[in-house]
Amino acid sequence: MKSNIQDTPLSKQLFGEGFIWGVSTAAVQIEGAWDVEGKGESIWDVFTAKKGKILNGHHHYTATDFYNRYQTDIDLIKQLNIPNFRFSIAWSRILPNGTGEVNQAGIGYYRKVIQYCLDNGIEPWITLYHWDLPQALEDKGGWTNREVISWFAEFVTVCANAFGDQVKHWMVMNEPAVFTGAGYFLGIHAPGRKGLKNFLPAIHHAIMCIAEGGRILRRLLPHVELGTTFSCSWVEPYTNKPRDIAAAKRVDALLNRLFIEPILGLGYPVDDFQTLKGLDKYIMPGDMEKIAFDFDFIGLQNYTREIVKYSFFTPYIHASLVKAEHRNVPVTSMKWEVYPESIYHILKKYNAYPQIKKIYLTESGAAFKDEVIDNQVVDPKRTEYLQRYLQQVLRAKNEGCKVEGYFIWTLTDNFEWAEGYHPRFGIIYVDFETQERIVKASGLWYAELLR
Ligand code: BGC
Repeated sequence: MKSNIQDTPLSKQLFGEGFIWGVSTAAVQIEGAWDVEGKGESIWDVFTAKKGKILNGHHHYTATDFYNRYQTDIDLIKQLNIPNFRFSIAWSRILPNGTGEVNQAGIGYYRKVIQYCLDNGIEPWITLYHWDLPQALEDKGGWTNREVISWFAEFVTVCANAFGDQVKHWMVMNEPAVFTGAGYFLGIHAPGRKGLKNFLPAIHHAIMCIAEGGRILRRLLPHVELGTTFSCSWVEPYTNKPRDIAAAKRVDALLNRLFIEPILGLGYPVDDFQTLKGLDKYIMPGDMEKIAFDFDFIGLQNYTREIVKYSFFTPYIHASLVKAEHRNVPVTSMKWEVYPESIYHILKKYNAYPQIKKIYLTESGAAFKDEVIDNQVVDPKRTEYLQRYLQQVLRAKNEGCKVEGYFIWTLTDNFEWAEGYHPRFGIIYVDFETQERIVKASGLWYAELLR
């Protein structure tokens, strides 16, 4: 079976007429212009300025200068035959203090970007929250403060009213597991908070916001397609020993089930990860009904798989990841294993939830070291990665999985959060000194596939 799929030459026809093809980005990673035309500070603006937080002291203040170069980049999307463009709205560009005064210049900016897409026949897909909370709200407790539900509701309402006439596809949030885990438990992402006392309330409030955001959008924009996105990695135990198997189950609950199951009305996966009992403190009467929302689609974002073993010393979860570097497997510059079957298993896993109506893969891609030679970037590893992952998507689709779209992460090389500019994920190369763009061979391959 496996070899058949790998031998199948890819063509977009194999995925069917209505299959959505796209490319994904996020505001902090590309826009730059962090302090212009009335934008307020976000937690990333503040976090990045702190010493030692971002690898090599990089910052996102200019990033790929998408703010000023959006026409160039959208022209490139068009040249590459990519019909759908996913990007996020910076909350503090719209509401500089998080709530209250609306920045018309911010709204005007996104309306121009969206209009430029539409004028070029490219469908805009909006993510409302891709990790950049206004700092003014973080100063009041950020995601740990239950009031974030009403702050977020205000942001969603303003955006729905501002862009609802232009945009037909909306995602409420990007990967809540990452911004709560890395930002409020491990402290390696903005705002740099640590520990369960921050993590648990952030989890509950983020999910309440996802459902509330869904309800607001459905009420204000009944005709748009609504979704929200989740990070997910295929998880396997290191050995067949019962304690490795149990450890893998806990990690799976944390990485793959914690955020989606309450939204599907299934509650928190407490049975498989007892630490989540601590959430009870933050759950108010009526919350578990309000936390569920019936999205039109679920966005899944998969890059790799994780191999898990029991670890006595890791607090709460008593599990550790067996690093890919120690397993003699191919890895990307993020040191993530290249494992195409992971996307297949993930699709099968989520497809099994009857509550999920439709799946789009809203991110998939890889960072590899790129070199410019004679003004060209030849990146066979990235192309091969994308092809092999797509073959596994096709395999799942052919077996009946309700997967209806695929977005590459990402358009241009960009600011990769705490890793700075070192990992290059783009299908377009960016020289960060000159902002020159060069379409990589992987970009040309995607253009050919979509022709
Ligand atoms: C995020 C992106 C990020 C990518 C690669 C996803 O978790 O949504 O913002 O750049 O993965 O790390």
